[in-house]
Amino acid sequence: MSDVIVVIGSGSIAQAIARRVSVGKKILLADIAIETTQRVEETLKKAGFEVSTTHVDVSSRESIDALVATATALGEVKGVIHTAGLSPSQSAAQNLLRVDLYGTAVVFEAFGKVIAPGGSGVVIGSQSSHRLAVDALSQKNADDLALLLPEELLELPWIKEIDDSLYAYQISKRGNALRVVSEAVKWGKRGARINCISAGVVYPPLAYDELTSAERGEYYRTMLGNSPAGRGGTPDEIGDLAEFLFGPKGTYISGSDILIDGGVTASTKYP
Ligand SMILES: NC(=O)c1ccc[n+]([C@@H]2O[C@H](COP(=O)([O-])OP(=O)(O)OC[C@H]3O[C@@H](n4cnc5c(N)ncnc54)[C@H](O)[C@@H]3O)[C@@H](O)[C@H]2O)c1
Repeated sequence: MSDVIVVIGSGSIAQAIARRVSVGKKILLADIAIETTQRVEETLKKAGFEVSTTHVDVSSRESIDALVATATALGEVKGVIHTAGLSPSQSAAQNLLRVDLYGTAVVFEAFGKVIAPGGSGVVIGSQSSHRLAVDALSQKNADDLALLLPEELLELPWIKEIDDSLYAYQISKRGNALRVVSEAVKWGKRGARINCISAGVVYPPLAYDELTSAERGEYYRTMLGNSPAGRGGTPDEIGDLAEFLFGPKGTYISGSDILIDGGVTASTKYP
């Protein structure tokens, strides 16, 4: 049986991670935008990787189940790189919650049932969730985000009330990080690990939407300029961290949320 790395979302962060952890394995690249996956498939194939593509809409459980079936037919699922998502300027709040919060919860649950021993999963969260105040969520709300069934998440009255896209994004990404904690226990029973990487502003292309957004662009440019690194991050830097988490040196890390943002959170909290 071949080892399979499932890559959900085919943007630059996904590609950077896939290149580092998929040598000698089969990559299954899945995205809602099939033309994007086909372009990325071509690039990765020319770089020597074995790649196939499929359509997935992570806002649909049926679609994720179909992805799991496609993946397991290819071989043993040794890795899940979950990067599919919408940024605040790309979507209204409730749609964003369905993709970034609900979709991620279903991905963890569905792949947690088939992940192979020694396997690893990573989701790209966001520095943005670290900008929420420490007490932004009650313990009850945090536990709900970690533990409720994915469908129940969208039925929570306080989630249904969210109509601001940025807040929806922050809650979704905080939800991803909390969810990783509870999923790590289940994945651990199969000998596998799962972690969240909370990324800062990474170029391109999702970041460009934010940096040029009339609403928030100036805020982001100032925020990066004032940070310890003084710049945005590159997909390769996220890829390096994911490679560590997937590799032999990362085997003691599970259920963690790792912030990688050039110190933006630090300088925002304590300027
Ligand atoms: N780029 C950044 O600055 C940054 C910072 C922090 C976190 N992130 C997170 O990293 C992840 C990847 O970001 P990126 O910059 O590579 O973005 P990207 O837009 O290049 O990639 C996201 C991909 O998700 C796909 N997608 C959107 N909705 C989908 C759905 N319903 N089903 C399946 N696929 C869907 C898109 O087609 C796209 O290919 C996202 O979750 C994002 O929130 C990005």
